[in-house]
Amino acid sequence: MKIITAVRGFKDILPGESEKWQFVEGKAREIFGNFGFREIVLPILEKTELFRRSIGETTDIVEKEMYTFVDRGDESLTMRPEATASVMRAYLEHGLYASESLVKLYTIGPMFRRERPQKGRFRQFNQLNAELLGSKDPRVDAEVILMLITFLRSVGVADARLEINSLGCPACRPAFREVIHKDLEEKRDGLCEDCRRRLSTNPLRIFDCKVEGCKAIVATAPLLIEFLCGECREHFDAVQSGLRLFDTPFEVNARMVRGLDYYTKTAFEVTTGALGAQNAIAGGGRYDRLVEELGGPESPGIGFAVGLERLVAVAPIPDETVIPRPELFIAALGKEAQDFAFVLCNRLRMKGALAETDYGARSLKSQMKRSDKLGCRYTLILGERELRERKALLRDMKDSSQQPLGLDDAENTILGILSTE
Ligand code: HAM
Repeated sequence: MKIITAVRGFKDILPGESEKWQFVEGKAREIFGNFGFREIVLPILEKTELFRRSIGETTDIVEKEMYTFVDRGDESLTMRPEATASVMRAYLEHGLYASESLVKLYTIGPMFRRERPQKGRFRQFNQLNAELLGSKDPRVDAEVILMLITFLRSVGVADARLEINSLGCPACRPAFREVIHKDLEEKRDGLCEDCRRRLSTNPLRIFDCKVEGCKAIVATAPLLIEFLCGECREHFDAVQSGLRLFDTPFEVNARMVRGLDYYTKTAFEVTTGALGAQNAIAGGGRYDRLVEELGGPESPGIGFAVGLERLVAVAPIPDETVIPRPELFIAALGKEAQDFAFVLCNRLRMKGALAETDYGARSLKSQMKRSDKLGCRYTLILGERELRERKALLRDMKDSSQQPLGLDDAENTILGILSTE
């Protein structure tokens, strides 16, 4: 019979990799915590309207990538394609703005986008997401970016490239829209079909097109950064000065627009050379109008998301540092020895030791091999004779030396030996 496999673009995280995920998540919790962020756990399903209104009707995500379905109650629901919209929904729904002027939240979990699967691109992927609400201060932008870089460094990613840009605000963007519309209208014939449509709906999106012809046209197009109003200019300069204070190298990429429509002012992306085409490991930016657009009070905010699959793929995390190895293997020969091992092994585990045994009645040679494969520090060799004499052999797997070990107080003796390691 043919086995049932996972859905295309959805993947399993197996032991060996899952420990690296735990390590990365642990570092995120530690560092985000140091910066004053607290965890919020959110549902995966939201009302479709939430994403339409926040991410933007004319973005790729909303136009073609959402997993949307009509629930039995006739309500249109969507499996979240990103977390920022959900964080804003919760922030408003629970009135979090009322209790504190500055709200710092992080959330970890799966997102769903029906993109074409390829290396580093999945239809279910996981993000570490951080959001800070309640401040327009450019120092906050630098602080949030600094937190991201500190976290990436903590998992060994030190050579990633940080690119920043300013996407302006409602005061300066409309004028630029006119300029870019006029410029690209003249080059309309060279644009792909999607971009011709974007020309009237959302011309900034053309900067994000991956089609070579469009990229070439955009390469000579006017840039938003040249049209920033005084306030946005000053803000962008201050963000850069802030970053310089912390040894956080960055480049200004005036063509970076990000794939979501809620951004204002600062936008940023972190890329690495190790990933091929899907090279962004993190992206984020400021969204000063988003909460208001969702019906809430003025609450400027900034945040980012890290793609966990991509980060784990590039972070140099050695197996030895994350994959737990048993400290002791009990090689038991014969039924009575196995019964003894069953009790001893579980008593040791209950006291916090990493012990392993085998009830498969295998030969001493194969049990020694298993102990070796698991990377155990010690092996206790236990047969009928050892039981009779109440004395077994404890083998040090590092130097192959052996020492006798009395069985009457084996538990405490072993715990003593393991605690000195
Ligand atoms: P985003 O740039 O769409 O931003 O996604 C952030 C990161 O998620 C990307 O840099 C990438 O590492 C990962 N990612 C995105 N799509 C996929 C995929 N199909 N497969 C694997 N990884 C993927 C956001 O989602 C914004 N909500 C970030 C943000 C938070 N902005 C402000 N606050």
